[in-house]
Amino acid sequence: MLKKVFASAVFGVEASTITVEVNVDGGIGYHLVGLPDNAIKESNFRIAAALQNNGYKIPGKKITINMAPADLRKEGSAYDLTLAIGILSASNQIKAENLEQYLIMGELSLDGSIHPIKGALPIAVKAREEGFKGFILPSSNAKEAAIVDNLEVYGVDNIKQVINFFDEGEPLEQTIINTREEFNKRLEFPEFDFSDVKGQESIKRCMEIAAAGGHNIILIGPPGAGKTMLAKRLPSILPPMTLHEALETTKIHSVVGRVKDTGLMAQRPFRSPHHTISNVALVGGGSYPQPGEISLSHNGVLFLDELPEFKREVLEVMRQPLEDREVTISRAKFTVTYPSSFMLVASMNPSPGGYFNDPNAPVTSSPAEMQRYLSKVSGPLLDRIDIHIEVTPVPFEKLSDERKSETSVEIRKRVTEARVIQTQRFSESETVHYNAQMNSKQIRKYCGLDGASKELLKTAMDRLNLSARAYDRILKVSRTIADLEGSDSINGTHISEAIQYRSLDREGWLG
Ligand SMILES: Nc1ncnc2c1ncn2[C@@H]1O[C@H](COP(=O)(O)OP(=O)(O)OP(=O)(O)O)[C@@H](O)[C@H]1O
Ligand SMILES: [Mg+2]
Repeated sequence: MLKKVFASAVFGVEASTITVEVNVDGGIGYHLVGLPDNAIKESNFRIAAALQNNGYKIPGKKITINMAPADLRKEGSAYDLTLAIGILSASNQIKAENLEQYLIMGELSLDGSIHPIKGALPIAVKAREEGFKGFILPSSNAKEAAIVDNLEVYGVDNIKQVINFFDEGEPLEQTIINTREEFNKRLEFPEFDFSDVKGQESIKRCMEIAAAGGHNIILIGPPGAGKTMLAKRLPSILPPMTLHEALETTKIHSVVGRVKDTGLMAQRPFRSPHHTISNVALVGGGSYPQPGEISLSHNGVLFLDELPEFKREVLEVMRQPLEDREVTISRAKFTVTYPSSFMLVASMNPSPGGYFNDPNAPVTSSPAEMQRYLSKVSGPLLDRIDIHIEVTPVPFEKLSDERKSETSVEIRKRVTEARVIQTQRFSESETVHYNAQMNSKQIRKYCGLDGASKELLKTAMDRLNLSARAYDRILKVSRTIADLEGSDSINGTHISEAIQYRSLDREGWLG
């Protein structure tokens, strides 16, 4: 007898439906065809044990299983449940008249319990698109699949539940989430808030500007100055995620199997990989491609703490995705693309010992050591960072100050208003949405200066010995400062402030 069961395979952040045909016939043997990988080929051992332990068996007949389309590579253990139910049904051990209305996936353990899968969200999106009635999957993935409406989502813990559902019509518990309601509820409460940071008004101002224009930023300061603390709070002042952005980001996290109980992500992600990270873990890849940290930060913040400690080559591979806002991974037979539109926040100590020009520093570094340390970050990556700011530790009196400072929600309001202006400005462009993304032509067009401001900028550049690359950055940041003020034109005050945010060009630190 021939039966069909449905499952799905994920490529990039999109899923494709897989039809699993199971044929049970006279004779003996077990054949699995249609480009399965080793984990799938091994599934018959898991299935045999799981069935045995629940009072069923793989029949001693000729079983042929075809996974179609045959040219699409299928990987992993998430098809165990699909195959098991297919075998039971094709061998008439269970009746399953409505089998074809469901997508069924899950990894089996030997006792028949069901383990989580990766990519439940993109799979659910596809299932709804293709008109499936329901999706039966591991219970720990149910919340993430239930983000999709008009699809019945059933989380299960054991194969026995699935068997009873099809064979005896015993109902499964449906997971229902009102996505929009849930999303709105969680939108307002950032986990980390700027009001926790005492003092540091000028740094907060600087981060507000960075958030408003989408500018990449680097924080320079000695250990304990609060760099990590400040960076962590940046997502909380970025404009709230739209439902569309939240879906995009959650999909990527779903593909690496990291959504679990949170369901839809309502806060922008903040990722902070360690400096020993590999190229693949940062940008994505591997023989079965998976998204990397830059994609997990999509629509949020990627924080590279202690930037000079990262291997130079790792930083190099990030340049292209920073430009394109997506990363494409090519393999012999296919390519996948992961979105990677993130704000880069970096931090560094001003020297390998941690201090710069500080007479009280516990350690000092020789000029040669300093040069070696700083040369690691010079060049192309730094070229993509608009704002440099020095962070000095706040004095004790400020730290113990009981007064509450401004909350992230208040700051975010101003940021969002400045973004509205930018959205209008770039409404005709498909690729540019905020000031940091402007190309040189757009800079000429939108960052015009009057005579006096031009003169001011020229004098400052000469006197502070600013590099040519600083010029465009200063204009972009000035544009954002003007937007925050609701000013159409850029004036001298805006320029002067933007000039302050070029520390690394100024001090002659980087040759
Ligand atoms: N302005 C501040 N307000 C409140 N707490 C602060 C402030 N600055 C520093 N702290 C406290 O000091 C701790 C250390 O700060 P943080 O880890 O952010 O420093 P850092 O600059 O990242 O240091 P390192 O270079 O060692 O990584 C914070 O967890 C926080 O408790
Ligand atoms: Mg730190």
